[in-house]
Amino acid sequence: MLEFINEFFTDSLFIPHGHCYLWKPGLVWLNILSDSLIALAYYSIPISLMYFVHKRKDLPFKGIMLLFGAFIVSCGTTHLMEIWTLWHPTYWLSGSLKAITALISVYTASVLVPIIPQALALPSPTQLEASNAELKAALQNLENTQSQLIQTEKLSSMGQLVSGIAYEINNPINFIYGNIHFAKEYVENLLVLLALYKEHYPHPPSTIQAYIQEVDINFLQEDLEKILSSIKIGAGRIRELILSLRKFSRLDEAEIKKVDIHQSIDSTLLLLQNRLKKQERYPEIEIVKEYGNLPKISCYPKQLNQVFMNILTNAVDALEESLVNQENIKESSSIGLTKPKIYIHTEILNNEQVRVRIANNGYGMVEEVRQKVFDPFFTTKPITSGTGLGLSISRQIIDKHGGQIECISSPLKGTEFIIRLPIQITFCKINILQTLP
Ligand SMILES: Nc1ncnc2c1ncn2[C@@H]1O[C@H](COP(=O)(O)OP(=O)(O)OP(=O)(O)O)[C@@H](O)[C@H]1O
Ligand SMILES: [Mg+2]
Repeated sequence: MLEFINEFFTDSLFIPHGHCYLWKPGLVWLNILSDSLIALAYYSIPISLMYFVHKRKDLPFKGIMLLFGAFIVSCGTTHLMEIWTLWHPTYWLSGSLKAITALISVYTASVLVPIIPQALALPSPTQLEASNAELKAALQNLENTQSQLIQTEKLSSMGQLVSGIAYEINNPINFIYGNIHFAKEYVENLLVLLALYKEHYPHPPSTIQAYIQEVDINFLQEDLEKILSSIKIGAGRIRELILSLRKFSRLDEAEIKKVDIHQSIDSTLLLLQNRLKKQERYPEIEIVKEYGNLPKISCYPKQLNQVFMNILTNAVDALEESLVNQENIKESSSIGLTKPKIYIHTEILNNEQVRVRIANNGYGMVEEVRQKVFDPFFTTKPITSGTGLGLSISRQIIDKHGGQIECISSPLKGTEFIIRLPIQITFCKINILQTLP
């Protein structure tokens, strides 16, 4: 045994491998270099494999990877041994190393065979890419539905609030408006009676005389008439506003209706009036209307009102922002926004469609913004004032009415939204529309 071990490591029994090459330097170097490079490459591969296994914790078949590593290391070592035996003929040692390599290789090969079907069952990168795309589409769908739900919720709570308030105020204001006429008539009668008293009793007792002076009866007569007229105008205004609110919310009109678009735009403008008039920081926003001769169109009025509201609110926001920017950079002459304006133009196109153009003379948008305005959740406004849903929902509403909406805008040139709507919605579109919020 001792003899065998001695023989195993001794290098005096055999002729070094270099003799076979007749110690020709070229041949020796060729073998040394080739074996060294092969060994170097064989050692580096397991390092990369180990690094890969270490980084990819989720990697399947880790064991086989490690076996590959061991197999390659042992192959590399046999090549180093080839260099060693050029001078040191320890062929028993070299043969044993080969035997170990053979064992590892055979074991690796036998383990690999049953793994192949399992490996084939793993999804390929193309399949993963396809599932990824499917998931992305599903996510996009989910986001759209979510945005619709948010807007529906917003719309329905706003609609309920508006119609609730409108309903509550409607009765008392009608009562005031209806009776103001009689109140005015009665007051006039009393004033006539007072005049008659004055004529027939020119010298009333001193108490009455004193009271007439105290209340300044002449001023009172004059002012009372003015006050009654103001009350009538004010009550009329509130009545108009309530009417607009009801027209705007039109909660009772969840069905398709023939609608006068101009009436929809006007009632929306009336609701926005507070933002259009002169403010402390902004001049009045002028509305330039160029209404064509339009027939009524069939649509869901509540939803169409929402579209006009979104576009007009955006126009007012844009004008206010432009005015603030202009003030900040003091270059009023550059776009001459001394008079902020919103232009509303309507016309009929080939007896089948109506076209509504709503433009404003604000700063406009850069191209990157213009391309995204209809994307859900895209907003350039502070988080508290914009959700970025207004235009995406508007486009959905217009699409589902069978119409189109587009945005034309460029910096310093203002912004225009162009809406085309069919005068008559076709039956299949009505069905789709019924699924809308
Ligand atoms: N008339 C306009 N002029 C300039 N920019 C506009 C105009 N209309 C829309 N935009 C831009 O398009 C973006 C998206 O508009 P959108 O109405 O969808 O959302 P928002 O107004 O930001 O928020 P909200 O959901 O409250 O309406 C706005 O943030 C704004 O940057
Ligand atoms: Mg908006």
